[in-house]
Amino acid sequence: MPDADRSLVAADRLRERLAAIEPLVALHPERVVVVRAPGRVNLMGDHTDYNDGLALPAAIDLEIRIALVPTDDRRVDLVLDASGQHATFDLDAIGGKRGTFVDYIAGTAWAMQEAGVATRGFRGLLASSLPTGASLSSSAALELASAWALSPAPGPSIDPVDLARICQRAENAYVGVNCGLLDQFSSACGRADRAVLLDCRTLAHEEVRLPLHDHALVVCHSGSPRRLESSEYNARRAQCERAVETLAGRGYPVRALRDVTPEMLVPIRAILDEETYRRCEHVVLEDERVVATIAALEAGDLDAVGRLFAESHASLRDLYEVSSPELDALVEIATDVDGVVAARMTGGGFGGCTVNIVRRDAVESLSEAIRTRYPERTGLTPRVFVVEPADGAGLVA
Ligand code: GLA
Repeated sequence: MPDADRSLVAADRLRERLAAIEPLVALHPERVVVVRAPGRVNLMGDHTDYNDGLALPAAIDLEIRIALVPTDDRRVDLVLDASGQHATFDLDAIGGKRGTFVDYIAGTAWAMQEAGVATRGFRGLLASSLPTGASLSSSAALELASAWALSPAPGPSIDPVDLARICQRAENAYVGVNCGLLDQFSSACGRADRAVLLDCRTLAHEEVRLPLHDHALVVCHSGSPRRLESSEYNARRAQCERAVETLAGRGYPVRALRDVTPEMLVPIRAILDEETYRRCEHVVLEDERVVATIAALEAGDLDAVGRLFAESHASLRDLYEVSSPELDALVEIATDVDGVVAARMTGGGFGGCTVNIVRRDAVESLSEAIRTRYPERTGLTPRVFVVEPADGAGLVA
């Protein structure tokens, strides 16, 4: 079965590779540290975060790691293990966006400094087992790994949720993507073996046990990259904000779509244009599905989770219109496989990945079905990963 190559980020390998390119390692081998930040799947609650709503992500064991030697010279110097690409910038003269991967690191340094969080220079090597542009939050993982790399020992001196917000600011204000908090929160605050409920209004969060003894979390990658910057993501967000303005203008007590209840959907249908109404219906019922999914997980009722995944996928496809023919094909193929109990797109959409809950003895059948039927339907090459819920960003022991 094809899977992600986790050996790419093995700490010993990274230390060796860093030693081969960085003379400081020979001088101060004891100073080398390795930091990590995971990607995520979102189990329920997509396009709810920027509406002050609820989401249920799990960080996963596909991640970005940076092996580094800290320095006192305020210079950040980083080599990408996969390509040998090199980036450098000065922490006291960060400058503007460059249009390369370094923006995520420089942007994080900028946002940390703006927030009064200490930064330091380093020489580092970055490796990843997390596919990029796959709706698995590789940007957020890069931001969180950078925040840990940039922080003097023993790590950022702030709460992980605050660190997530700083990284979100890097992405919003420096990189220029108007994302919500979901991805950075997941990478900062994930828990091994758990999903984490996030209330995007209060930022309260709560671990949720996953009854996965006999089941695995499986990610299917459509092989069609998600392009958030060029996508309609910002347009969806603006549409939600306009809906709130319209409803508030008509006297409804709403600050965000979070405040629209399912009962209110009937009267507001007459106020909003048809498309805007559909966007609202998705957001309002998706919040409800997060609550229902947690109840079903706690009751160990995976059939109910499966129905909620199916409803969510249909809603993202038909009401919010952020799925794609490829994601729909992945969900349809998976749903036909005996032992696949739940399947939906995950994250922003417009390409990327689906997340599936699969009986462990059916993982190989799912993989086989995707490998044979998906290319016939789309002409694309899929990838299938079995993932485990993982802890949020930190030092590698
Ligand atoms: C992207 C964004 C998140 C969130 C999801 C959809 O991943 O970065 O903030 O809006 O899409 O749930």
